[in-house]
Amino acid sequence: MRFQGCVAIITGGGSGLGRVLAHRFAAEGAAIVVADVVGQRARAVADEISEAGGKSLAQTTDVTRAADVEAMVMAARDEFGPVDILVNNAAQATDADFLDVGEETWDGDVAVTLKGSFLCSQAVLADMTKNGSGVILNISSVNALGYYGNEAYSAAKAGILNLTRSLAVRYGPFGVRVNAIAPGTLKTPAWEQRQQKDPGVFERVAKWYPLGRVGEPEDVAGAVLFLASDEAAWISGAVLPVDGGLTAGNMQMMQEIIKGPKDHIQ
Ligand SMILES: NC(=O)c1ccc[n+]([C@@H]2O[C@H](COP(=O)([O-])OP(=O)(O)OC[C@H]3O[C@@H](n4cnc5c(N)ncnc54)[C@H](O)[C@@H]3O)[C@@H](O)[C@H]2O)c1
Repeated sequence: MRFQGCVAIITGGGSGLGRVLAHRFAAEGAAIVVADVVGQRARAVADEISEAGGKSLAQTTDVTRAADVEAMVMAARDEFGPVDILVNNAAQATDADFLDVGEETWDGDVAVTLKGSFLCSQAVLADMTKNGSGVILNISSVNALGYYGNEAYSAAKAGILNLTRSLAVRYGPFGVRVNAIAPGTLKTPAWEQRQQKDPGVFERVAKWYPLGRVGEPEDVAGAVLFLASDEAAWISGAVLPVDGGLTAGNMQMMQEIIKGPKDHIQ
């Protein structure tokens, strides 16, 4: 029970990784605010947590709207007390060829993915600095570290890494730790449309992963809970890839190098 007495907000908590994180933090004693732009999803997850004996509150929150974010933090404080843990998990990625990405799509993906993390972090920092403790976890992506498509989303995910470092330095002296996780492909509802069009997508993508499979939300949850816990008390400003080895290197390229003429081998 690493989070007994803690209050945690999970944005985008109504689906996929956010839902699993909400359950895992609740199972370790935290009171959970499940915040999602789709209120029905937030309520469903909050109900699941309550039914399992945990403490939860559903909030319909669009993380791109300052008023919604303020209301979310106030509701958390009123119901459970000041927020100890914020997980910036909500994000948006629109599939489109770069030359077809319109202004609205760019602004939308960047707003949910990056501005949302700014607004939510700003909203919890007053209480965290006053209390002299707090944890912010930013869910980034391997898309922040290299090219895997979705340019607007990827640029925003890269922006999150600097936001992580900036806040870690700025608020470390107040006892606030800020870290980022960069997951690889996760089997979540975010992939539903692609999977419907292309049922073999996970099997094909898995071949790029040194560990031979794509991830499950549970693969990431362990790292998030560790970084949120006191076991990580001296870790701040870090970016942890949780990606089955994807960003460690490129096996196919290495094989091409070895196959080539001897003077190409370094
Ligand atoms: N699934 C993957 O392959 C993958 C890979 C790397 C990183 N990630 C990251 O993991 C996180 C969770 O992704 P997921 O795959 O679980 O996605 P998901 O689509 O299953 O869930 C995302 C949730 O965010 C909510 N949301 C969207 N816009 C919002 C807004 N403006 N305000 C509040 N909530 C909003 C959605 O309603 C949804 O419930 C994201 O940050 C994503 O970028 C996912």
